Amino acid sequence: MANTIKSSAVTKAVIPAAGLGTRFLPATKAMPKEMLPIVDKPAIQYVVEEAVSAGLDDVLIITGRNKGNLMNHFDGVPELEDTLKHKGDAARLDKVNRVTGLADVHFLRQGRPLGLGHAVACARQHVGRESFAVLLGDDLIDERDPLLDRMIAEHDARGASVIALMEVPKNSIHLYGCAAVETTEDRDVVRVTGLVEKPSAEDAPSSLAVIGRYVLRPEIFDVLDVIEPGRGGEIQLTDALNLLAEGHGDDPVYGVIFRGRRYDTGDRADWIKANVLLAIDHPELGAELEEWILEFAEALGANRGTSLNNNSLLSSFR
Ligand code: G1P
Repeated sequence: MANTIKSSAVTKAVIPAAGLGTRFLPATKAMPKEMLPIVDKPAIQYVVEEAVSAGLDDVLIITGRNKGNLMNHFDGVPELEDTLKHKGDAARLDKVNRVTGLADVHFLRQGRPLGLGHAVACARQHVGRESFAVLLGDDLIDERDPLLDRMIAEHDARGASVIALMEVPKNSIHLYGCAAVETTEDRDVVRVTGLVEKPSAEDAPSSLAVIGRYVLRPEIFDVLDVIEPGRGGEIQLTDALNLLAEGHGDDPVYGVIFRGRRYDTGDRADWIKANVLLAIDHPELGAELEEWILEFAEALGANRGTSLNNNSLLSSFR
């Protein structure tokens, strides 16, 4: 268990992981998308590590069908541990044990796929009347650019729910929740006055997209209980937050503007980029990869505009 010293009342993280992962088929046909590896760890492990390093070591993962592997990942594996011990492979044994002892991980199954808002509502009993964080597994926030600590600090200081926002090109705003905002005295913090789930570029109130980190006051559960299904016929977390942001209830909503590195690991191209970017800094892999990528990029560049296709180029790279 992590021994983080913290003073915030926020101690619990909720990670919805019940999605079908259709963008990654067929890889996700029989395996949860959260188990796709990024370098040498499954995506879900990064998200749990992020929660733990922000002091949240009580983690509730909301699962759906096909999610057995997810649960296995956080359990001990005595036969594997014995084999590694027997071989004297302390480094790998440490990697295995680190995951098992990472956090106090709980699982809850969302019986029906009724949307992100519904998945979060499932956490009500576990969370109780406390503020809590929600981390979406598709969004990987680079640990070198911490976000959650800042959001928890704003939550504590303002006594409000806080969401993470990021400037995106207008032509991709339809992929996100989008916020209407007012500035505050702090250039990284805005007051959210409205939210729309996945608007068209014309209807978007801004180019500020909701990225998958939320620090929520428990009143959100009361709103989630009464809202009607929204976009896609699903109970949307964005719709519940919109009601609060518009002033229905006593809870204002603030946004922290994130300017760091974020990867959408549910998107194939972004997933490949995340692998490259994180592998380049990996202590065991970085040096070899860097050299290879430089040579490869140079050859790819030289190949551009020639009649050679990439196929003949690729045959010389291993
Ligand atoms: C969800 C939220 C959306 C948010 C996005 C961030 O959408 O509903 O508001 O902008 O996560 O990744 P999803 O990507 O699950 O469709």
